[in-house]
Amino acid sequence: MLKTIAAATAVATALLTGAAHADPSAAPTPPMGWNSWNHFADKIDDATVRAEADAMVKSGMRDAGYVYINIDDTWEGQRDAAGVIHPNAKFPDMKALADYVHSKGLKLGIYSSPGPKTCAGYEGSQGHEVQDAQTYAAWGVDYLKYDLCSLSGPMIAAGSLDKAQAIELAAYRRMADALHATGRPIVFSLCQYGFAQVWRWGGSVDGNLWRTTGDINDTYPRMLAIGLSQAGLSKYAKPGNWNDPDMLEVGNGGMKPDEYRTHMSLWALLAAPLLAGNDLATMSPETTAMLTNREVIAIDQDRAGVQGDRVAVEGPLEIWAKPLAGGAKAVGLFNTSDLPAQMSLNLADVGFAGGARAHDVWSGKDLGPLRGRYTTIVPAHGVALLTLSS
Ligand code: GAL
Repeated sequence: MLKTIAAATAVATALLTGAAHADPSAAPTPPMGWNSWNHFADKIDDATVRAEADAMVKSGMRDAGYVYINIDDTWEGQRDAAGVIHPNAKFPDMKALADYVHSKGLKLGIYSSPGPKTCAGYEGSQGHEVQDAQTYAAWGVDYLKYDLCSLSGPMIAAGSLDKAQAIELAAYRRMADALHATGRPIVFSLCQYGFAQVWRWGGSVDGNLWRTTGDINDTYPRMLAIGLSQAGLSKYAKPGNWNDPDMLEVGNGGMKPDEYRTHMSLWALLAAPLLAGNDLATMSPETTAMLTNREVIAIDQDRAGVQGDRVAVEGPLEIWAKPLAGGAKAVGLFNTSDLPAQMSLNLADVGFAGGARAHDVWSGKDLGPLRGRYTTIVPAHGVALLTLSS
């Protein structure tokens, strides 16, 4: 089934000019915040969202740039006789919750589907787009993740790839227009798992970001596969339109510190949205330090808004680089093997044939002026993250 939709790629490419109309001011840099799904899934409720907002402030994450508190699937209740959506019993008063989140200097995100049902089987927005957008705006919602889910049924039933793609585009367009009509700036986050080369057309339905892959989970192989699969996508990202390789798993406990450093480094080089997916209220000081590392965040949020990409790969050793404002570059040396490895960066390969001033981000240490090559030992499943400038 997924293959069928994925094959709509050619049609999507042919049909679309790729013109992006999304308002870049809604997401001038990759959105930063927190999302409930990876840790809480269907256990999310009002009290937990408040606790996460509190922890976002107390931990220093807000001051490091994290803004959105995003409620994922399972908040939805029933529609009333007029068709207006209401939250379920876990969320007694969404407006009051939004007010609380805003009072902390944060913003609130919510979740729905262009289909009749969400992925967890709750009420979707199909046929109620205008109403739902108005409801979200009235509550004070600042961000919508719009997850394909049950719309894939009618797309497959349509019987052709171009018809399927037309259904999808129309559905995302309907919600984009409904959000604009509210007059409230609401970040529009497309989630359809990267089918049909969404990076080529996500901006044309006013997506500020679009998931480029299926779901992440808290394991090194899955995180790595997703991160490395972003090779070649850098040219589709720009301020207001970001590739989204899914939310962070840092702090959820399934990976080792070097693996989480790889996760953060790769996401920063990819100019990916940084949406923490752990429990902020109980995280360790090490997790807080990793999520709030100012230099890593600065790479991700660099004002030039250029996504990084793969520079070289040799078996399990990969080098990725991201251009930064002012001619600097961030470079990641990734060792995906199970043993430490010596890695060597030819500075000319990343545009510094004449040498560079270098800084090791995770140790926070200057490496001094370098010429020719930089050689270092990178731990198993780990990374050396550098910034280079002339
Ligand atoms: C998936 C989506 C996840 C999460 C989940 C909720 O389709 O990719 O990120 O939102 O649905 O049901």
